[in-house]
Amino acid sequence: MSVEFCGLRLVHPVINGSGTFDALAAREAFGTALNVEFPFAAYVSKTITLEPRRGNPPPRLWEASGGLVNSIGLPNKGLEGYLAEDLPALASLPVPLITNVMGSTAAEISELLEACDARAEIAAVELNVSCPNVKTGLDIGADPRQLEEVLRTVRPRTGKPLIVKLTPNAADVSACALAAEAGGANAVSLINTLRALVLRPVSRKGPSAVPERRPWLGAGTGGLSGPAIRAVALAQVAAVAERAQIPVIGMGGVSTAAHARDLLDVGARLVAVGTESFRDPVAGAKIARELAG
Ligand SMILES: Cc1cc2nc3c(=O)[nH]c(=O)nc-3n(C[C@H](O)[C@H](O)[C@H](O)COP(=O)(O)O)c2cc1C
Repeated sequence: MSVEFCGLRLVHPVINGSGTFDALAAREAFGTALNVEFPFAAYVSKTITLEPRRGNPPPRLWEASGGLVNSIGLPNKGLEGYLAEDLPALASLPVPLITNVMGSTAAEISELLEACDARAEIAAVELNVSCPNVKTGLDIGADPRQLEEVLRTVRPRTGKPLIVKLTPNAADVSACALAAEAGGANAVSLINTLRALVLRPVSRKGPSAVPERRPWLGAGTGGLSGPAIRAVALAQVAAVAERAQIPVIGMGGVSTAAHARDLLDVGARLVAVGTESFRDPVAGAKIARELAG
């Protein structure tokens, strides 16, 4: 089952989706057993930004039919906190570390990439481009021209493999993938969550900070993940894999080996498990085992 990915040799093709598996918290909960059979062949950190972020106001989660709508808002310690506090602990995981970063300008992204480049513990960088450009308000990854331009600027700042995590909230995701490739990405990953809105239900009784018929999530909208997005993910991964030359990491609603196999069969090199890990933290290991069997 071992697979080559951007110069890394991974023991199997299953990794985690950024922000859906906290390896440090899991190690506290499950102890060193987690190092014996770590659920993923590489570990992707949650998104790190230049400055610390507190995340969005509550409520942050909504359980939808067959999925989860979240507006967590990327809380993190910021680059400095990540490098000083989390990186040394993450470096002791038994698998290669992929650090996921996000910035709202090319200058911010450059600083993040340079800092990652200087750290041997980081095997590759995943760039989350689902971030509004401060000038245009448009997600950087939603417009192929803007995406290619930003990547051409930031690409020289790291010699490490650069994975671009595409946004599914774009008119033509495969055009975005080709733009990422033209801008120097070594791989693309998709899909991130789909923009979603939920209202506080009329039926909900009792005290609530959220007035009736208003958006339930503190941030207004959120992102839908889990089984509900699997067919969308399969369509987008197939479209991207057909056109792009660089490897593709497929994700979105994977909860069984059969789902992972679907993504591999349409051309993904690796598969990531996200929301399913909240239900079963060792889902990644189970899926990898079943894929091999
Ligand atoms: C609670 C939660 C937090 C997430 N945090 C991040 C994040 O920090 N960075 C990122 O690039 N994607 C993040 N994602 C998106 C996932 O990595 C993944 O792309 C998406 O959830 C689709 O996969 P899934 O359906 O298997 O969950 C998050 C998703 C969830 C549900």
